[in-house]
Amino acid sequence: MKVFITGASSGIGEALAHEYAKRYKDNNAVIGLAARRSEHLQKLQHQLETSYNIKCIVYALDVRDSVALSSAATDFIQQHGAPNVVIANAGVSSGTLTECAEDTTAFQSVMDINVLGMVNTFQPFISAMRQATQNGDIAQLVGIASVAGIRGLPGAGAYSASKAATIAYLESLRVEMLHHNIAVTTIAPGYIRTPMTDINSYKMPFLMDADIAATKFLNAIERKRRFVIIPWQMSWVAKLMRLIPPVLWDLLAKNAPHKSRIRVE
Ligand SMILES: NC(=O)c1ccc[n+]([C@@H]2O[C@H](COP(=O)([O-])OP(=O)(O)OC[C@H]3O[C@@H](n4cnc5c(N)ncnc54)[C@H](OP(=O)(O)O)[C@@H]3O)[C@@H](O)[C@H]2O)c1
Repeated sequence: MKVFITGASSGIGEALAHEYAKRYKDNNAVIGLAARRSEHLQKLQHQLETSYNIKCIVYALDVRDSVALSSAATDFIQQHGAPNVVIANAGVSSGTLTECAEDTTAFQSVMDINVLGMVNTFQPFISAMRQATQNGDIAQLVGIASVAGIRGLPGAGAYSASKAATIAYLESLRVEMLHHNIAVTTIAPGYIRTPMTDINSYKMPFLMDADIAATKFLNAIERKRRFVIIPWQMSWVAKLMRLIPPVLWDLLAKNAPHKSRIRVE
């Protein structure tokens, strides 16, 4: 099993790397770990290689840098061939208010990292993955979206818009990839306990630990689910959110707690 994961330096990405290493330790697993903080990635590499006797390759990069992702992909493919699974998980979250000029930078960063970062992650792998499927290998692209992309949440315009964009983008990609036998899975998490949610002061319904979430994410990936919301309770909330007419949504959402307006760069 050969996997490439962005955002592997913490939270969901780190938990996914652990879960892959645990599950595929006897199958010559190779995991590409990408994020900006190289010291976190190196620590994870050491943990996984010593605990599970698998191979990890660290790529310290910013997903906004398409050239860096392209050379990471080239290096991974040269060393180990096309990955079976590429997971575009890197993402940032910040509260934003359109009326505040100082939030413009955050809007830009959230969109660049969460949306274009996903495109930059998949693009350099697709050609090699297409060839690999012709030789009978499995190939799958996985994008981490969010329930926040189902409806616009107040105080989180950038994050909601970025995740709505990833949901639509991944659906386009899924249909495009049908011709190439490359599966595309969209995972829309509810609340998962990670550094991203640790800063939220409000109550987070159905909050799930990252290691449990990673097990469920992997099960969904292996079943080649097209679109899945985890935890399952959130999928019912999402179904309801989709049905509610705008006038009722306004009434329900207007007093919803806002995300903190943290600095994202
Ligand atoms: N936690 C939740 O409840 C939840 C819910 C729905 C969706 N999600 C999504 O799940 C994904 C993972 O989030 P998380 O909760 O695990 O948060 P997290 O612990 O903050 O992890 C985010 C990861 O993304 C990486 N990252 C951020 N910006 C990057 C950039 N420009 N280039 C490369 N890597 C970058 C971070 O690494 P570096 O800082 O080292 O670069 C880190 O590894 C995100 O896409 C998030 O939107 C999370």
